[in-house]
Amino acid sequence: MTNIDEQLETAARIVSESSYLIALVGAGMSKESGIPTFRGGDGLWDKHGEPPMDGYQRMLADPAAWWAERQAQRQSQAGDELTRAIEEAKPNPGHIALAEMERRGYLKHIITQNIDNLHQEAGSEAITEIHGNRTKMRCVNCVRRWGRDEFVPKDMPPRCPDCEGLVKSDTVMFGEPIPPDALESCFREAQRADAVLLLGTSAAVYPAAEFPVIVYRNGGKLIEVNPQETPLSELCSAVLRAPSGHVLPALLEEVGKLDTGS
Ligand code: APR
Repeated sequence: MTNIDEQLETAARIVSESSYLIALVGAGMSKESGIPTFRGGDGLWDKHGEPPMDGYQRMLADPAAWWAERQAQRQSQAGDELTRAIEEAKPNPGHIALAEMERRGYLKHIITQNIDNLHQEAGSEAITEIHGNRTKMRCVNCVRRWGRDEFVPKDMPPRCPDCEGLVKSDTVMFGEPIPPDALESCFREAQRADAVLLLGTSAAVYPAAEFPVIVYRNGGKLIEVNPQETPLSELCSAVLRAPSGHVLPALLEEVGKLDTGS
């Protein structure tokens, strides 16, 4: 039996025996949907450099200008490449396998760092989007959200009809605090989990990378699906060095075999 088969068997046993399995998802999960990652050697930040860390503060300083620029669709090179890729992307077999794992009761919650809405399109329901969702708008004050097409700005910059707060894309900008409702949900899920699937994340960004460590410290088990090593690899009980679009359908099948005894 090859090492990956052994790792797959170990991972399947952890999934099958877990009572509250969650997933922490990163950009690698959507790579096979044609969306570039940020790091890992061929990512957007590798190619174009990281964007300034004060984008949010600059937006707050002049929200009308930010909105004007956004509407003029004058975006950074990375932004154009990312936006175009996301608009054309469809869920890949990894997203579909995760949705099936939720449907069969194995997977209780997805914490995703991705803003691409592909988990929803694949049929997953229990999702927390720690970096927001590009198809939504959000009030930065009361955190009310709207579908992008259902929010029609009356004034510029747009104001929340409930609290007059500034409305922007739900996508969390560099320098922007994680929305409190999303952060609270992530910590709650991490505290409940006894196992975590680490799917396509470099575990380089906090607080997202902290959630698997909480589960580990509570005695939970980690499974990593990533062609490359990450700072969390050494905490994992199973490591699957392969693309998530290949591994997750195989993992779902292996768990099914365990549960039917076949
Ligand atoms: N399947 C699984 N993993 C993959 C695949 C694949 N097909 N292809 C690449 N990867 C792995 C890479 O090895 C890398 O470890 O996916 C990871 C992607 O890492 P990042 O690009 O850093 O993405 P992520 O971890 O989601 O970044 C976190 O950083 O800039 C911010 O807001 C951005 O949400 C993002 C956050």
